[in-house]
Amino acid sequence: MKRHLPDSAATEALARELLAILPADTAGWTLLLEGELGAGKSTFARALIAAMGHLGAVPSPTYTLVEPYQLAGRRIYHIDLYRISSEEELRYLGWGELEDGFRLVEWPDRAPGLARTADLRLRLSYGETGRDAAFEGLSERGEAVAEKLKLATISHAKD
Ligand SMILES: Nc1ncnc2c1ncn2[C@@H]1O[C@H](COP(=O)(O)OP(=O)(O)O)[C@@H](O)[C@H]1O
Ligand SMILES: [Mg+2]
Repeated sequence: MKRHLPDSAATEALARELLAILPADTAGWTLLLEGELGAGKSTFARALIAAMGHLGAVPSPTYTLVEPYQLAGRRIYHIDLYRISSEEELRYLGWGELEDGFRLVEWPDRAPGLARTADLRLRLSYGETGRDAAFEGLSERGEAVAEKLKLATISHAKD
């Protein structure tokens, strides 16, 4: 699924749309948020966490690496891999202990092997104006979600 996001409100709306499509139980799911600096990764992550019911600020996990949330029965881990340089360093943030939640990963290209076990990937890039989004499923269950978002995008384009 590809979609143009003319402004940050559109990036935030996409996060809310994704939440409406996600299953209630997302324990063990991983969403990779790719894109260069300023592409809108944090904008998307903040909007998703807020839509999941979090009130207040969503601090950047740049230094803590992981920011955990417990929201309406859903555990979420907002993860930023900017400061790691290899897959091996994933153990510093206790990656293996984050199986019980929804892992939302910024800068996943720091640990390229993650794509093998992830479910969803959102690539954000700069367009002539605004940003462009490309969303894809990486696992079977992820593909089912991507397919639904694609259908939503088609009806979106008709509006
Ligand atoms: N679709 C969009 N169009 C224009 N600006 C956007 C869009 N999405 C986000 N932005 C803006 O881009 C800036 C950087 O966003 P941010 O989410 O911090 O990027 P990243 O986390 O990828 O570095 C913010 O000012 C944000 O409001
Ligand atoms: Mg960011």
